[in-house]
Amino acid sequence: MGHRAAIVGAGHTRFGVLEDGPRALLRSAVCAAFASVDHGAAPSEVGEAFLASLGFGGWQIGNASAVLGEEAGIPGVPVTHVENACASGGFALRAGVRAIETGARDLVLVAGLEKMTDVASARRRYWLGVSGDTEWERLAGLTFAGVYGLIASRYLHEHAVGPEALAEVAVKNHENGALNPNAHFRKRVTREDVLRSARVADPLGLYDCCPVSDGAAAVLLAPAETAHRYTDAPVYVDGLGAGSDRLAVQERPELTRFEATRRAAEEAFRQAGYARSAISFLEVHDCFTIAELLALEDLGFAGPGEAAALTLSGATRRDGRLPTNPDGGLKSKGHPIGATGVSQLYEIFLQLRHAAGARQVHGAERALAHNVGGAGATAAVSVLSVG
Ligand code: COA
Repeated sequence: MGHRAAIVGAGHTRFGVLEDGPRALLRSAVCAAFASVDHGAAPSEVGEAFLASLGFGGWQIGNASAVLGEEAGIPGVPVTHVENACASGGFALRAGVRAIETGARDLVLVAGLEKMTDVASARRRYWLGVSGDTEWERLAGLTFAGVYGLIASRYLHEHAVGPEALAEVAVKNHENGALNPNAHFRKRVTREDVLRSARVADPLGLYDCCPVSDGAAAVLLAPAETAHRYTDAPVYVDGLGAGSDRLAVQERPELTRFEATRRAAEEAFRQAGYARSAISFLEVHDCFTIAELLALEDLGFAGPGEAAALTLSGATRRDGRLPTNPDGGLKSKGHPIGATGVSQLYEIFLQLRHAAGARQVHGAERALAHNVGGAGATAAVSVLSVG
């Protein structure tokens, strides 16, 4: 159907428990994005910028846009802070593409950032909890692991499957993360390790959960028609979809499907004009292992309950027919909230340009990024291709 915009550069910091504060993380991701532009790009060419972040952990910086302006060296340029919980990055991409589509911007910067590990865990739980329902979830003591634990219990019950499929998601993503130099965890785990790990919110154990990470990522967008000015291998954004749902999970008709994801995927594929079978690999929002199974189903790659068998069959491994989260996903690469959606685009930029090294997906030509806010209240999906 025609490309909507192109990614011409991408940068990433390590994810994990890091010494750097939010300013240094942002600076490092943005500098790396500029340095990655094959034919060169300067901050002075940026006409607009977007910053995805939940709130910078202990820094709790309001009006954060100015910080990106300063650290990217783009003083005076309009910057918008995009906050849709864990889906902030995916929504910031939408905003960036729209800015390109106005025709008034030659280059747009989209950065994602979170500093999480400088906050004590009780305060962090409270802080993260604001992205869920306050009255019935957070104040009742339900954490995000708790909400996803309820969803996982329901999924296993409805589809009469065992916890092995959940464990397999963790095994695969840790295996991929072990090959990613930016990953929070670069450690392989076995199915037994996952099944025997300390319980966090049954049936979810420690290895079913994403960790708490610091990190940043950035991409540079250009109009598709002028992208070759920056690189011979632009990565095109062909479709962008988004959706939302009720905040409290108990107010939804079903626990085991995310309508926001379904709607976002339909819109993205409709815009792109190609079928799901054209997608070479997926970057999905596996904040907990159950979330990857739901994503495969809600995105339309498996029917209800079928993602468990698909995962156990090995199809979602890097060398399977539907590689999923070749960078290790949120589970192993880490999940610095605002950075996650932008980090998925970084991985797609590398993979589609066949520059992902040891974790390269063979023959990657088209990819999908899926970014979820909270327990499915918001979702953004993009589909991308290489020219
Ligand atoms: N996966 C694998 N290992 C993990 C881990 C995870 N998610 N989280 C922590 N670890 C490891 C640590 O590296 C550490 O290992 P070490 O003893 O070898 O150094 C050990 O487990 C204990 O770490 P600690 O930070 O004390 O863990 P914790 O018990 O405080 O936190 C969780 C564990 C799962 C509760 C925490 O990671 C968490 O809350 N994750 C979910 C975050 C979230 O909700 N994000 C938003 C999603 S919507």
